Amino acid sequence: MRKKVTKAIFPVAGMGTRFLPATKSVPKEIMTLVDRPLVQYAIDEARAAGIKEFIFVTSRGKGALEDYFDVAPTLEQELKKKGKDELLEILKSTNMDSGEIAYIRQHKALGLGHAIWCARRLVHNEPFAVMLPDDVIAAEKPCLQQMVEAYEETGGNMVAAMEVPQDRVSSYGVLDVEEDMGSMVKVKGMVEKPKTEDAPSNLAVIGRYILSPNIFKNLNKMKAGAGGEIQLTDAIAQEIDNPEAGVYGYRFRGQRFDCGSKAGFLQATVAFGLARDDLRDDLEGYLHEVMASRKAAE
Ligand code: UTP
Repeated sequence: MRKKVTKAIFPVAGMGTRFLPATKSVPKEIMTLVDRPLVQYAIDEARAAGIKEFIFVTSRGKGALEDYFDVAPTLEQELKKKGKDELLEILKSTNMDSGEIAYIRQHKALGLGHAIWCARRLVHNEPFAVMLPDDVIAAEKPCLQQMVEAYEETGGNMVAAMEVPQDRVSSYGVLDVEEDMGSMVKVKGMVEKPKTEDAPSNLAVIGRYILSPNIFKNLNKMKAGAGGEIQLTDAIAQEIDNPEAGVYGYRFRGQRFDCGSKAGFLQATVAFGLARDDLRDDLEGYLHEVMASRKAAE
């Protein structure tokens, strides 16, 4: 029997420079889509996939993130006193059980691969998930759950993948496909941020992974790759020729928003706003108005 994936690493030690000045004091992962911080979407997705242990790789200035997952007794008392049961329930649903969540610091932002390596002693010798909270995925069945189900068949290492426009490939890790089986592809190569003309395909890796613990061994030996950072992609690529593991790309069903970029964050705000019964009519009305007045001004 394959070992179940019950641990997830959330690397959140990056500086979030694309959102300066906000990220001077607010961690990117605490920024809100409608009324929930990005990280809450990731936690909910992880839980749906059967994750029981949540490991955050943080850095200086991320205190607000730890506070967010702490209990808020004064607030709870106040809501109880005022009979605001619905809000109380929302608040309680964000609480984490003691011991369910762990934080480890990445002292220097040496790259995503290095951030994952920092969590090696908390994962030990078992498969684990990696989730980048700034990739938010709207899906009927949560993306990581889709992947866990597919992984039960394949084992090895699995990365979430999606087709991107050819002129955008240089922003992603890109897959070289050996065999295309539809929702799943067998991978024969991976390149991090290739030049458009060097990209082996337009199938890009996005922020969900299920990885074997071998990745830590590979990261042990890693030197900086593309962009001077220790790349997770390089450590995963080393598993391609491992006959007991291999690497698979998984074309998930759902819409991914790159909330690490301003345009992606704004698009997600609109999409998640429109998905909410309590906001849809107002927001839709406003968007129509804006579009109409822009058209009239042309
Ligand atoms: P990004 O490339 O989005 O970098 O990292 P960033 O620092 O978060 O944002 P910008 O580009 O400066 O605006 C992708 C993910 O990897 C984590 C980030 O926190 C983010 O979740 N990361 C990156 C680390 O944890 N450590 C690193 O050294 C680098």
